[in-house]
Amino acid sequence: MSRFAEPQDPAFREMNTSLGFDRRLWPHDVAQSRAHARMLAAQGIITEPDRDAILAGLDGVEAELHAGTFPFAPDDEDIHMAVERRLTELAGAPGGRLHTARSRNDQVVTDVALFTRDAARSAQAQLTVFMEALVDAAERHLDWALPGYTHLQRAQPVYLSHHLLAWFWMADRDRGRFAAAEAACSVMPLGAGALAGVNFDTDRGMVARELGFASVSPNSIDAVANRDFILDYLAAAATCATHLSRLGAEIVLWSSSEFGFLVLPDAWSSGSSIMPQKKNPDAGELLRAKAPRIVGHLQALHGVMHALPLTYNKDLQEDKEHLFDSVDTMRLCLAAATGMVAGARFDRERMSAAASDELIAATDLADLLVKQGMPFRESHGVIAGLVRESVESGRSLADVAVPALGQDARAVLAQSSWLESKASEGGTALGRVREQLEQARARLR
Ligand code: ARG
Repeated sequence: MSRFAEPQDPAFREMNTSLGFDRRLWPHDVAQSRAHARMLAAQGIITEPDRDAILAGLDGVEAELHAGTFPFAPDDEDIHMAVERRLTELAGAPGGRLHTARSRNDQVVTDVALFTRDAARSAQAQLTVFMEALVDAAERHLDWALPGYTHLQRAQPVYLSHHLLAWFWMADRDRGRFAAAEAACSVMPLGAGALAGVNFDTDRGMVARELGFASVSPNSIDAVANRDFILDYLAAAATCATHLSRLGAEIVLWSSSEFGFLVLPDAWSSGSSIMPQKKNPDAGELLRAKAPRIVGHLQALHGVMHALPLTYNKDLQEDKEHLFDSVDTMRLCLAAATGMVAGARFDRERMSAAASDELIAATDLADLLVKQGMPFRESHGVIAGLVRESVESGRSLADVAVPALGQDARAVLAQSSWLESKASEGGTALGRVREQLEQARARLR
Protein backbone atom coordinates (compact mmCIF):
# COMPACT_ATOMS: atom_id res chain seq x y z
CA MET A 1 0.00 0.00 0.00
CA SER A 2 1.05 3.55 -0.53
CA ARG A 3 -0.14 6.80 0.93
CA PHE A 4 -0.28 8.26 -2.57
CA ALA A 5 -2.83 7.74 -5.32
CA GLU A 6 -0.81 9.52 -8.04
CA PRO A 7 2.76 9.05 -9.19
CA GLN A 8 5.34 11.78 -8.61
CA ASP A 9 5.76 14.43 -11.26
CA PRO A 10 8.98 13.62 -13.14
CA ALA A 11 10.43 17.06 -12.42
CA PHE A 12 9.69 16.68 -8.70
CA ARG A 13 11.29 13.27 -8.74
CA GLU A 14 14.39 14.71 -10.36
CA MET A 15 14.52 17.56 -7.85
CA ASN A 16 13.90 15.35 -4.84
CA THR A 17 16.33 12.57 -5.70
CA SER A 18 19.78 12.72 -4.10
CA LEU A 19 21.14 9.40 -5.31
CA GLY A 20 23.23 11.10 -8.00
CA PHE A 21 25.47 12.62 -5.34
CA ASP A 22 24.82 10.77 -2.08
CA ARG A 23 25.77 7.35 -3.43
CA ARG A 24 29.31 8.04 -2.30
CA LEU A 25 28.06 7.70 1.28
CA TRP A 26 27.55 3.98 0.77
CA PRO A 27 30.58 2.73 2.75
CA HIS A 28 29.35 4.68 5.77
CA ASP A 29 25.75 3.59 5.23
CA VAL A 30 26.74 -0.08 5.13
CA ALA A 31 29.01 0.25 8.18
CA GLN A 32 26.24 2.00 10.09
CA SER A 33 23.68 -0.67 9.16
CA ARG A 34 25.99 -3.45 10.31
CA ALA A 35 26.48 -1.80 13.69
CA HIS A 36 22.75 -1.09 14.01
CA ALA A 37 21.81 -4.69 13.17
CA ARG A 38 24.29 -6.09 15.72
CA MET A 39 22.88 -3.78 18.38
CA LEU A 40 19.27 -4.71 17.55
CA ALA A 41 20.11 -8.39 18.03
CA ALA A 42 22.16 -7.80 21.19
CA GLN A 43 19.17 -5.98 22.68
CA GLY A 44 16.76 -8.74 21.62
CA ILE A 45 14.92 -6.39 19.24
CA ILE A 46 15.58 -8.71 16.28
CA THR A 47 16.58 -12.38 16.39
CA GLU A 48 20.11 -13.60 15.83
CA PRO A 49 19.15 -15.47 12.64
CA ASP A 50 17.60 -12.24 11.30
CA ARG A 51 20.77 -10.35 12.21
CA ASP A 52 22.90 -12.93 10.41
CA ALA A 53 20.71 -12.74 7.34
CA ILE A 54 21.00 -8.94 7.39
CA LEU A 55 24.79 -9.05 7.82
CA ALA A 56 25.18 -11.57 4.99
CA GLY A 57 22.91 -9.44 2.81
CA LEU A 58 24.95 -6.33 3.62
CA ASP A 59 28.10 -8.19 2.57
CA GLY A 60 26.44 -8.81 -0.80
CA VAL A 61 25.33 -5.18 -1.10
CA GLU A 62 28.83 -4.00 -0.26
CA ALA A 63 30.43 -6.32 -2.81
CA GLU A 64 28.09 -5.06 -5.53
CA LEU A 65 28.65 -1.42 -4.67
CA HIS A 66 32.37 -2.00 -4.56
CA ALA A 67 32.44 -3.74 -7.92
CA GLY A 68 30.12 -1.20 -9.51
CA THR A 69 27.55 -3.88 -10.29
CA PHE A 70 24.95 -2.70 -7.78
CA PRO A 71 21.61 -2.58 -9.61
CA PHE A 72 20.21 0.86 -8.86
CA ALA A 73 16.45 1.07 -9.44
CA PRO A 74 14.42 4.00 -10.81
CA ASP A 75 12.60 4.34 -7.47
CA ASP A 76 15.78 4.64 -5.38
CA GLU A 77 15.44 8.15 -4.00
CA ASP A 78 18.72 8.14 -2.13
CA ILE A 79 21.52 5.77 -1.18
CA HIS A 80 19.81 4.78 2.08
CA MET A 81 16.68 3.54 0.30
CA ALA A 82 18.75 1.86 -2.41
CA VAL A 83 20.82 -0.10 0.12
CA GLU A 84 17.76 -1.19 2.08
CA ARG A 85 15.80 -2.19 -1.03
CA ARG A 86 18.68 -4.26 -2.37
CA LEU A 87 19.32 -5.78 1.06
CA THR A 88 15.73 -6.99 1.17
CA GLU A 89 16.06 -8.48 -2.33
CA LEU A 90 19.19 -10.36 -1.24
CA ALA A 91 18.26 -11.26 2.36
CA GLY A 92 14.50 -11.62 2.03
CA ALA A 93 12.11 -10.75 4.87
CA PRO A 94 14.82 -10.13 7.56
CA GLY A 95 16.05 -7.20 5.44
CA GLY A 96 12.77 -5.46 6.22
CA ARG A 97 13.66 -5.52 9.94
CA LEU A 98 16.87 -3.51 9.60
CA HIS A 99 15.14 -0.15 9.77
CA THR A 100 13.56 -0.98 13.15
CA ALA A 101 14.31 1.81 15.65
CA ARG A 102 15.88 3.98 12.96
CA SER A 103 14.75 6.81 10.70
CA ARG A 104 16.38 8.17 7.59
CA ASN A 105 16.69 11.38 9.58
CA ASP A 106 19.15 9.98 12.12
CA GLN A 107 20.60 7.62 9.50
CA VAL A 108 21.58 10.33 7.02
CA VAL A 109 23.16 12.67 9.55
CA THR A 110 25.15 9.76 10.98
CA ASP A 111 26.49 8.84 7.53
CA VAL A 112 27.43 12.44 6.87
CA ALA A 113 29.17 12.75 10.24
CA LEU A 114 31.25 9.66 9.42
CA PHE A 115 32.06 11.05 5.97
CA THR A 116 33.02 14.47 7.35
CA ARG A 117 35.16 12.90 10.05
CA ASP A 118 37.12 11.00 7.39
CA ALA A 119 37.48 14.15 5.30
CA ALA A 120 38.74 16.16 8.28
CA ARG A 121 41.27 13.42 9.04
CA SER A 122 42.51 13.28 5.44
CA ALA A 123 42.92 17.04 5.35
CA GLN A 124 45.08 16.87 8.49
CA ALA A 125 47.18 14.09 6.99
CA GLN A 126 47.63 15.99 3.72
CA LEU A 127 48.49 19.17 5.61
CA THR A 128 51.17 17.27 7.50
CA VAL A 129 52.75 16.17 4.20
CA PHE A 130 52.56 19.76 2.94
CA MET A 131 54.23 20.99 6.14
CA GLU A 132 57.01 18.41 5.74
CA ALA A 133 57.61 19.64 2.19
CA LEU A 134 57.84 23.22 3.49
CA VAL A 135 60.33 22.32 6.22
CA ASP A 136 62.44 20.33 3.77
CA ALA A 137 62.45 23.22 1.30
CA ALA A 138 63.32 25.66 4.11
CA GLU A 139 66.29 23.50 5.11
CA ARG A 140 67.52 23.33 1.52
CA HIS A 141 67.34 27.12 1.14
CA LEU A 142 68.35 28.17 4.61
CA ASP A 143 70.48 31.24 3.76
CA TRP A 144 69.14 32.23 0.34
CA ALA A 145 68.29 35.93 0.43
CA LEU A 146 65.30 37.49 -1.30
CA PRO A 147 63.35 40.69 -0.82
CA GLY A 148 60.33 40.54 1.46
CA TYR A 149 57.46 42.61 0.09
CA THR A 150 54.77 44.90 1.34
CA HIS A 151 52.34 46.36 -1.20
CA LEU A 152 54.25 44.11 -3.62
CA GLN A 153 57.10 46.65 -3.35
CA ARG A 154 60.49 45.53 -2.11
CA ALA A 155 60.43 46.15 1.63
CA GLN A 156 63.15 44.36 3.62
CA PRO A 157 65.29 41.35 2.76
CA VAL A 158 64.55 37.96 4.29
CA TYR A 159 65.83 34.42 3.91
CA LEU A 160 63.84 32.08 1.69
CA SER A 161 63.74 29.56 4.56
CA HIS A 162 61.98 32.18 6.70
CA HIS A 163 59.48 32.92 3.93
CA LEU A 164 58.72 29.23 3.36
CA LEU A 165 58.18 28.72 7.07
CA ALA A 166 55.54 31.45 7.03
CA TRP A 167 53.45 29.01 4.98
CA PHE A 168 54.23 26.28 7.48
CA TRP A 169 52.61 28.15 10.37
CA MET A 170 49.51 28.89 8.35
CA ALA A 171 49.21 25.20 7.51
CA ASP A 172 49.77 24.30 11.16
CA ARG A 173 46.84 26.48 12.22
CA ASP A 174 44.73 24.99 9.41
CA ARG A 175 45.50 21.55 10.76
CA GLY A 176 44.21 22.68 14.15
CA ARG A 177 40.98 23.89 12.58
CA PHE A 178 40.45 20.54 10.82
CA ALA A 179 41.15 18.75 14.11
CA ALA A 180 38.41 20.84 15.74
CA ALA A 181 36.06 19.94 12.88
CA GLU A 182 36.91 16.27 13.41
CA ALA A 183 36.04 16.61 17.09
CA ALA A 184 32.68 18.14 16.13
CA CYS A 185 31.96 14.94 14.18
CA SER A 186 32.58 12.69 17.15
CA VAL A 187 29.06 12.80 18.66
CA MET A 188 26.77 10.10 17.26
CA PRO A 189 23.25 11.18 16.20
CA LEU A 190 22.02 7.63 15.48
CA GLY A 191 19.32 6.49 17.86
CA ALA A 192 17.45 9.79 17.70
CA GLY A 193 14.93 8.21 15.34
CA ALA A 194 12.89 10.66 13.32
CA LEU A 195 13.31 13.33 16.00
CA ALA A 196 11.84 12.15 19.31
CA GLY A 197 13.74 8.98 20.12
CA VAL A 198 12.49 5.45 19.43
CA ASN A 199 10.08 2.97 20.95
CA PHE A 200 12.74 0.32 21.61
CA ASP A 201 15.35 -0.28 24.27
CA THR A 202 18.40 0.47 22.12
CA ASP A 203 22.05 0.56 23.19
CA ARG A 204 23.43 3.65 21.50
CA GLY A 205 26.80 3.34 23.21
CA MET A 206 27.36 -0.05 21.57
CA VAL A 207 26.74 1.39 18.10
CA ALA A 208 28.89 4.44 18.84
CA ARG A 209 31.81 2.24 19.90
CA GLU A 210 31.63 0.16 16.73
CA LEU A 211 31.51 3.26 14.52
CA GLY A 212 34.24 5.09 16.43
CA PHE A 213 32.15 7.92 17.88
CA ALA A 214 33.34 9.33 21.21
CA SER A 215 29.83 9.90 22.57
CA VAL A 216 26.13 9.93 21.67
CA SER A 217 24.03 13.04 21.18
CA PRO A 218 22.17 13.92 24.38
CA ASN A 219 19.14 15.39 22.58
CA SER A 220 17.30 13.63 19.76
CA ILE A 221 15.85 16.90 18.40
CA ASP A 222 19.28 18.52 18.16
CA ALA A 223 20.74 15.30 16.74
CA VAL A 224 18.62 15.21 13.57
CA ALA A 225 18.61 18.99 13.04
CA ASN A 226 22.35 19.44 13.52
CA ARG A 227 24.72 20.07 10.62
CA ASP A 228 27.15 22.37 12.38
CA PHE A 229 29.98 19.85 12.12
CA ILE A 230 29.75 20.38 8.33
CA LEU A 231 29.92 24.14 8.81
CA ASP A 232 33.04 23.55 10.94
CA TYR A 233 34.66 21.47 8.22
CA LEU A 234 33.73 24.01 5.53
CA ALA A 235 35.02 26.90 7.64
CA ALA A 236 38.34 25.11 8.15
CA ALA A 237 38.49 24.32 4.43
CA ALA A 238 37.61 27.87 3.43
CA THR A 239 40.43 29.32 5.54
CA CYS A 240 42.90 26.69 4.38
CA ALA A 241 41.98 27.19 0.71
CA THR A 242 42.29 30.94 1.15
CA HIS A 243 45.80 30.43 2.51
CA LEU A 244 46.65 28.26 -0.47
CA SER A 245 45.26 30.89 -2.84
CA ARG A 246 47.90 33.29 -1.53
CA LEU A 247 50.58 30.66 -2.07
CA GLY A 248 49.23 30.10 -5.59
CA ALA A 249 49.39 33.82 -6.28
CA GLU A 250 53.02 33.99 -5.16
CA ILE A 251 53.94 30.97 -7.24
CA VAL A 252 52.39 32.63 -10.31
CA LEU A 253 54.34 35.84 -9.67
CA TRP A 254 57.59 34.17 -8.78
CA SER A 255 57.58 31.89 -11.81
CA SER A 256 57.08 34.82 -14.21
CA SER A 257 60.03 36.00 -16.29
CA GLU A 258 59.73 39.36 -14.53
CA PHE A 259 60.45 37.84 -11.10
CA GLY A 260 62.23 34.68 -12.17
CA PHE A 261 62.52 33.50 -8.57
CA LEU A 262 61.46 29.93 -9.30
CA VAL A 263 60.92 27.37 -12.01
CA LEU A 264 58.00 25.01 -11.48
CA PRO A 265 58.36 21.27 -11.93
CA ASP A 266 57.02 20.10 -15.31
CA ALA A 267 54.64 17.79 -13.46
CA TRP A 268 52.76 20.83 -12.18
CA SER A 269 52.91 23.01 -15.31
CA SER A 270 51.12 23.07 -18.63
CA GLY A 271 51.86 24.29 -22.13
CA SER A 272 50.06 26.50 -24.61
CA SER A 273 48.10 25.26 -27.61
CA ILE A 274 49.64 27.99 -29.78
CA MET A 275 52.83 29.34 -28.17
CA PRO A 276 55.46 26.61 -28.12
CA GLN A 277 57.66 28.38 -25.56
CA LYS A 278 55.00 28.62 -22.86
CA LYS A 279 55.22 26.91 -19.49
CA ASN A 280 52.21 28.04 -17.56
CA PRO A 281 51.67 27.89 -13.78
CA ASP A 282 48.07 26.65 -14.15
CA ALA A 283 48.13 24.83 -10.82
CA GLY A 284 49.11 28.04 -9.03
CA GLU A 285 46.36 29.92 -10.83
CA LEU A 286 43.83 27.25 -9.89
CA LEU A 287 44.93 27.44 -6.26
CA ARG A 288 44.03 31.12 -6.45
CA ALA A 289 40.65 30.47 -8.03
CA LYS A 290 39.48 27.36 -6.17
CA ALA A 291 39.40 29.08 -2.78
CA PRO A 292 36.34 31.26 -3.42
CA ARG A 293 34.49 28.16 -4.53
CA ILE A 294 34.92 26.58 -1.08
CA VAL A 295 34.09 29.88 0.60
CA GLY A 296 30.94 29.91 -1.55
CA HIS A 297 29.99 26.44 -0.33
CA LEU A 298 30.41 27.58 3.27
CA GLN A 299 28.23 30.59 2.62
CA ALA A 300 25.63 28.48 0.81
CA LEU A 301 25.30 26.02 3.70
CA HIS A 302 24.93 28.91 6.14
CA GLY A 303 22.09 29.98 3.87
CA VAL A 304 20.51 26.52 3.98
CA MET A 305 20.68 26.45 7.78
CA HIS A 306 19.59 30.03 8.27
CA ALA A 307 16.25 30.31 10.11
CA LEU A 308 15.50 26.64 9.43
CA PRO A 309 12.83 25.45 11.88
CA LEU A 310 13.65 22.33 13.91
CA THR A 311 14.06 19.50 13.18
CA TYR A 312 14.67 17.69 9.90
CA ASN A 313 13.63 19.53 6.75
CA LYS A 314 14.40 18.43 3.23
CA ASP A 315 16.52 21.58 2.97
CA LEU A 316 19.13 19.55 4.81
CA GLN A 317 19.63 17.35 1.77
CA GLU A 318 21.34 20.43 0.29
CA ASP A 319 24.26 19.97 2.70
CA LYS A 320 25.87 17.26 0.63
CA GLU A 321 26.95 18.76 -2.66
CA HIS A 322 28.55 21.71 -0.86
CA LEU A 323 30.39 19.32 1.41
CA PHE A 324 31.42 16.83 -1.27
CA ASP A 325 32.70 19.42 -3.72
CA SER A 326 34.64 21.14 -0.95
CA VAL A 327 36.25 17.87 0.14
CA ASP A 328 37.26 17.03 -3.44
CA THR A 329 38.54 20.54 -4.08
CA MET A 330 40.48 20.62 -0.81
CA ARG A 331 42.17 17.32 -1.60
CA LEU A 332 43.36 18.58 -5.01
CA CYS A 333 44.49 21.96 -3.67
CA LEU A 334 46.59 20.37 -0.93
CA ALA A 335 48.15 17.94 -3.41
CA ALA A 336 48.98 20.79 -5.80
CA ALA A 337 50.44 23.01 -3.08
CA THR A 338 52.62 20.15 -1.83
CA GLY A 339 53.74 19.13 -5.32
CA MET A 340 54.72 22.65 -6.29
CA VAL A 341 56.58 23.42 -3.07
CA ALA A 342 58.45 20.11 -3.13
CA GLY A 343 59.40 20.41 -6.81
CA ALA A 344 60.04 24.15 -7.25
CA ARG A 345 63.57 25.02 -8.38
CA PHE A 346 64.46 28.38 -6.83
CA ASP A 347 66.91 30.74 -8.57
CA ARG A 348 69.40 31.90 -6.00
CA GLU A 349 71.00 34.53 -8.28
CA ARG A 350 67.72 36.15 -9.29
CA MET A 351 66.52 36.38 -5.72
CA SER A 352 69.85 37.60 -4.43
CA ALA A 353 70.09 40.27 -7.14
CA ALA A 354 66.64 41.54 -6.16
CA ALA A 355 67.60 41.44 -2.49
CA SER A 356 70.76 43.49 -3.07
CA ASP A 357 68.74 46.55 -4.01
CA GLU A 358 70.33 48.89 -1.44
CA LEU A 359 67.12 50.82 -0.94
CA ILE A 360 65.70 47.93 1.04
CA ALA A 361 68.27 48.71 3.73
CA ALA A 362 66.83 52.19 4.30
CA THR A 363 65.19 51.10 7.56
CA ASP A 364 68.54 49.74 8.71
CA LEU A 365 70.22 53.09 8.01
CA ALA A 366 67.50 54.85 9.97
CA ASP A 367 68.08 52.42 12.86
CA LEU A 368 71.83 53.20 12.72
CA LEU A 369 71.03 56.82 13.58
CA VAL A 370 68.66 55.68 16.31
CA LYS A 371 71.45 53.65 17.87
CA GLN A 372 73.54 56.84 17.79
CA GLY A 373 70.82 58.56 19.83
CA MET A 374 68.48 60.16 17.28
CA PRO A 375 64.70 59.66 17.74
CA PHE A 376 63.34 57.27 15.09
CA ARG A 377 60.86 59.76 13.60
CA GLU A 378 63.75 62.15 12.95
CA SER A 379 66.08 59.52 11.51
CA HIS A 380 63.26 58.31 9.22
CA GLY A 381 63.17 61.83 7.73
CA VAL A 382 66.96 62.07 7.38
CA ILE A 383 67.17 58.75 5.50
CA ALA A 384 64.11 59.55 3.39
CA GLY A 385 66.00 62.69 2.27
CA LEU A 386 69.08 60.60 1.37
CA VAL A 387 66.93 58.07 -0.53
CA ARG A 388 65.34 60.90 -2.46
CA GLU A 389 68.74 62.38 -3.27
CA SER A 390 69.95 58.98 -4.45
CA VAL A 391 66.88 58.32 -6.61
CA GLU A 392 66.90 61.82 -8.13
CA SER A 393 70.65 61.97 -8.77
CA GLY A 394 70.99 58.41 -9.97
CA ARG A 395 73.84 57.84 -7.46
CA SER A 396 73.84 54.77 -5.27
CA LEU A 397 72.50 55.07 -1.75
CA ALA A 398 75.95 54.21 -0.41
CA ASP A 399 77.51 57.05 -2.43
CA VAL A 400 75.05 59.47 -0.91
CA ALA A 401 74.86 58.03 2.62
CA VAL A 402 78.50 57.30 3.47
CA PRO A 403 79.68 60.94 3.10
CA ALA A 404 76.69 62.06 5.18
CA LEU A 405 76.69 59.36 7.86
CA GLY A 406 80.25 57.99 7.92
CA GLN A 407 81.76 54.55 7.46
CA ASP A 408 79.22 52.80 9.71
CA ALA A 409 76.71 53.34 6.93
CA ARG A 410 78.85 51.27 4.56
CA ALA A 411 78.80 48.32 6.95
CA VAL A 412 75.03 48.58 7.29
CA LEU A 413 74.66 48.56 3.52
CA ALA A 414 76.53 45.26 3.14
CA GLN A 415 73.83 42.79 2.18
CA SER A 416 74.16 40.06 4.77
CA SER A 417 74.21 42.55 7.61
CA TRP A 418 70.65 43.59 6.76
CA LEU A 419 69.55 40.04 7.30
CA GLU A 420 71.65 39.06 10.27
CA SER A 421 70.72 42.18 12.21
CA LYS A 422 67.08 40.97 12.36
CA ALA A 423 67.88 38.76 15.32
CA SER A 424 64.76 39.51 17.33
CA GLU A 425 62.55 36.55 18.28
CA GLY A 426 60.74 35.30 15.17
CA GLY A 427 63.00 37.41 12.92
CA THR A 428 64.89 36.43 9.78
CA ALA A 429 68.46 36.14 11.18
CA LEU A 430 69.81 32.64 10.60
CA GLY A 431 70.01 31.78 14.30
CA ARG A 432 66.33 32.62 14.64
CA VAL A 433 65.36 30.68 11.52
CA ARG A 434 67.21 27.64 12.90
CA GLU A 435 65.26 28.02 16.12
CA GLN A 436 62.05 28.21 14.09
CA LEU A 437 62.98 25.09 12.11
CA GLU A 438 63.34 23.27 15.40
CA GLN A 439 59.88 24.42 16.49
CA ALA A 440 58.47 23.39 13.12
CA ARG A 441 60.07 19.95 13.33
CA ALA A 442 58.58 19.55 16.80
CA ARG A 443 55.09 20.26 15.39
CA LEU A 444 55.61 17.35 12.98
CA ARG A 445 56.74 14.83 15.61
N1 ARG B 1 18.23 12.02 1.19
C1 ARG B 1 17.82 12.63 2.42
C2 ARG B 1 18.82 13.68 2.86
O1 ARG B 1 19.85 13.67 2.33
C3 ARG B 1 17.72 11.58 3.47
C4 ARG B 1 16.81 11.87 4.59
C5 ARG B 1 15.42 11.87 4.14
N2 ARG B 1 14.51 11.92 5.23
C6 ARG B 1 13.26 12.27 5.04
N3 ARG B 1 12.50 12.30 6.05
N4 ARG B 1 12.80 12.56 3.85
O2 ARG B 1 18.56 14.52 3.70
